[in-house]
Amino acid sequence: MRVPRTFAALLVLMAAVSCTAAHGDDGKPGATAPALPAFQRLLPAPAQARATAPGTGYVLGPGTVIRADPSSPDTRESADRLAEQLRATSGLSLMVVDGDQRDGILLRIDEQATALGAEGYELTSDANAVTLTAHTPAGLFYAVQTLRQLVPAAGGGLVQGGTITDRPRFAYRGAMLDVARHFFPVGQAKRYVDQLAQYKVNTLHVHLSDDQGWRLAIDSWPRLAEYGGGTEVGTGPGGSWSKEEYRSLVEFAKERHVEVVPEIDMPGHTNAALASYAELNCDGKAPARYRGIKVGFSSLCVRKEVTYTFIDEVLGELAELTPGRYLHIGGDEAHSTSAEDYAAFMDRAQEAVARHGKTAVAWHQLAGARPADGTVLQYWGTATTAPGEKGKVADAAAHGHPLILSPADRLYLDMKYDLTTKPGLTWAGFVPVKQAYDWDPGTYLSGSGVPESAVLGVEAPLWTETIATRADLEFMAFPRVLGLAELGWAPKTAHNWTAYAKRLAAQGPRLDEQGVTFYRAPDVPWS
Ligand code: ACM
Repeated sequence: MRVPRTFAALLVLMAAVSCTAAHGDDGKPGATAPALPAFQRLLPAPAQARATAPGTGYVLGPGTVIRADPSSPDTRESADRLAEQLRATSGLSLMVVDGDQRDGILLRIDEQATALGAEGYELTSDANAVTLTAHTPAGLFYAVQTLRQLVPAAGGGLVQGGTITDRPRFAYRGAMLDVARHFFPVGQAKRYVDQLAQYKVNTLHVHLSDDQGWRLAIDSWPRLAEYGGGTEVGTGPGGSWSKEEYRSLVEFAKERHVEVVPEIDMPGHTNAALASYAELNCDGKAPARYRGIKVGFSSLCVRKEVTYTFIDEVLGELAELTPGRYLHIGGDEAHSTSAEDYAAFMDRAQEAVARHGKTAVAWHQLAGARPADGTVLQYWGTATTAPGEKGKVADAAAHGHPLILSPADRLYLDMKYDLTTKPGLTWAGFVPVKQAYDWDPGTYLSGSGVPESAVLGVEAPLWTETIATRADLEFMAFPRVLGLAELGWAPKTAHNWTAYAKRLAAQGPRLDEQGVTFYRAPDVPWS
């Protein structure tokens, strides 16, 4: 969902006004580094923000009461969670009550506020109250995330006065975690979801199968996880998620308005499946399991009917476990599958997804075959991708296929920042923090004829061939993934590296507080 043109024009105007209007501070006299005015610290930048005079606003303290408007049951849950979070970050134990007085912090869902859309909200702060209004529970959740960034960390303090009216630029704001190359437990995926949702990211794509391992229990093909899950890159033991664990991730994500998109990559990237079941191989022989990092050597047997029983049953179980709209079927780097076989296979994989009531997502190589009506394509090219390849993606977009943009030389979080980065790969070059942020998804493929209206959103994949620990994972993701959050949410008018770098720097203490082992990139003015 993008901002309609007239609304966008209004935002340009408001943004111009707010830049000069917002001069509040964080209410803590004597704070060291010259603090950015509170509204200018927000990440992602809001669509529209107008601050009242510095020093005005609501003073949050031990006596503050959080009120959940009783006309909507969803507000109480949000209010309770806000209280919990403020207890953790500010040390204040605030009382939560039902009520609609503008006194304290008021959370309300307004049926009439359709202009706020599916994810938008309004936040006002004055001497009496901070009021959070949304049309949907997701919008209210994002209002709360904004408020969390406005509350001075310890002991409360001034919530800068003014009004923020906010909504996202793109509907799809995603991150991908590869748990196949190196296994990560569900708890790590939850931790990532919790970190991302604070920055208004709304999708977690999990890459659940690859040559090196199969990570989700499938009842009808149990050896996939039992045997195919027992390896990973290097010498580690691998592992897999039970269905219960996967469900708990989906539920955890849903509470944070994050949709889980599971990926079973095929017909290539399938050695773990081929090793688990001999009958999936054209020669009927199971290959050994694989612990290296080569790509493109495996393929499901496209001309055997059992292959389609297999994908139908796997996708059926996955669809049943997944309340979200999408199943990702991979389709990248099928270098051991002929073009004819690839197209035939992907036709049937897309049919299977549709049969189970879901929308297919595939990597953009499917544009060279036959994307079915409605299939979403995920673009992972770079500045050097051939015009012909981009042209196929543009053709698909012109035929109504929405695009998720994950340019590898911008958003691949497994690319090294620079020469000094220990983990990571470099096939798409180095990706410093500035490069990850400083591009426009709306015009990225316009040279090939893709209009902004074809762009569903953005996603930052984190492949894990070289990443085996939480510390490395967070070091590679943070702070670049905040650039993804910003690109997905903030209006185009807010796009400015210098201003963004300052706002990013302001997130440093917050990341530290949460124990995130982020990279203190030299191109960001950390205090
Ligand atoms: C990919 O990086 N092979 C999608």
